[in-house]
Amino acid sequence: MTESTTAQPIARGLKNVVIDKTALCLIDGEAGRLAYRGYDIHDLAEQSSFEEVAYLLWHGDLPNASQLERFDAALRAARALPEGVIEVIRRVSAAHPMDVLRTAVSALAAFDPDTGDMSEEANLRKGIRLTAQTPAIVAAHHRIRSGEQPLAPDPGLSLAANFLYTLHGQRPDPEAARAIDVDLILHAEHGSNASAFAARVTASTLADLHSAVVAAIGALKGPRHGGAAEAVMKLVQEIGEPERAEAVIAGKRERGEKIMGFGHRVYRVEDPRARHMRERARELGEKMGQPKWFRILTAIQDAMAPLADRGVNVNVDFYAGAVYYLLGIPEDVFVPMFAIGRMPGWIAQVMEQWQDNTLIRPLLEYEGPQNLEYVPLERRL
Ligand SMILES: CC(C)(COP(=O)(O)OP(=O)(O)OC[C@H]1O[C@@H](n2cnc3c(N)ncnc32)[C@H](O)[C@@H]1OP(=O)(O)O)[C@@H](O)C(=O)NCCC(=O)NCCS
Repeated sequence: MTESTTAQPIARGLKNVVIDKTALCLIDGEAGRLAYRGYDIHDLAEQSSFEEVAYLLWHGDLPNASQLERFDAALRAARALPEGVIEVIRRVSAAHPMDVLRTAVSALAAFDPDTGDMSEEANLRKGIRLTAQTPAIVAAHHRIRSGEQPLAPDPGLSLAANFLYTLHGQRPDPEAARAIDVDLILHAEHGSNASAFAARVTASTLADLHSAVVAAIGALKGPRHGGAAEAVMKLVQEIGEPERAEAVIAGKRERGEKIMGFGHRVYRVEDPRARHMRERARELGEKMGQPKWFRILTAIQDAMAPLADRGVNVNVDFYAGAVYYLLGIPEDVFVPMFAIGRMPGWIAQVMEQWQDNTLIRPLLEYEGPQNLEYVPLERRL
């Protein structure tokens, strides 16, 4: 029996259920293709910047030079955090960076002049602030918990370079900044994944943009979604040497454990985003004199090759963890990295939901007891 009277087939996990139309992102899971607003992910990863991609997602097409200049200037000008939010970060600084991020993004709503304004213009202004301030929260938190002061943003740096600068206190070399820029582009949007769906569900009640984004951050935290890159790096460290990969993976598979960084709800072939992170992981490993991590990753991928026939292949997070690790990003900041990249996508999804809103409210089939006699408290055994 359903909550309502009509019996319906159950679609657990909403697998293969199409909930609406979108003009944001095309994912072809069989062919391994991904495009944002019609532009192939490989062109964007090779030629674009994260700032351009955010503009593309919100405005529907790539910016021309003057549009990009204005947009980028607005992002750079919005980076500084309200003092009250830094205070909140200090108070919760012992928590996991994802919990701090969720709390601080929620606190941003209290300081945003447009929180309750649902107009498109206000949503774009809030979108710029959320995209610029999410990396600022992650970096400020890491400095505070390391006993250091948060750094003022450098308006001369791109969003990716400024993130690394405010995290480490040193201006990054162009290769490091570009590796993060590409990582953010690859994570910017990905259809109706769990966090974007959580954002849409929240937005569909006509709750504000900050609430929708906070719901998305909560959904992203889990290891079945954003937590995979952190888990991959733990696995790589557990394996320790490339020669051990085959035996460790075989042991885990025998115990029925999922191997992190593999498998995807939509892709049946290799995730098209993986190749860009694989290249960065290889290049950075060689440049930094630490090629072992890449060799272990390659050995894991070889050990997992038999599962490719069942549609289980490498996903974007498999190599991302190694890139973060080589750039000195702490392991518990890997999921927040995903949130920094996905922020423009969440915002675009919410704005798209509101263009033609309908409340998202599925049904559950009831299977519990019925018609029980109510026993007053004093008579219960
Ligand atoms: C992403 C994920 C949740 C998708 O789950 P899903 O849609 O239910 O997966 P599929 O339906 O494609 O799984 C098909 C089969 O492969 C197995 N499989 C899927 N991912 C696997 C993995 N990472 N390691 C080992 N086996 C895996 C499943 O258990 C299933 O086996 P079964 O048919 O014997 O039950 C899952 O692959 C996973 O947990 N991966 C690891 C976490 C991760 O990397 N997440 C980041 C995603 S970007």
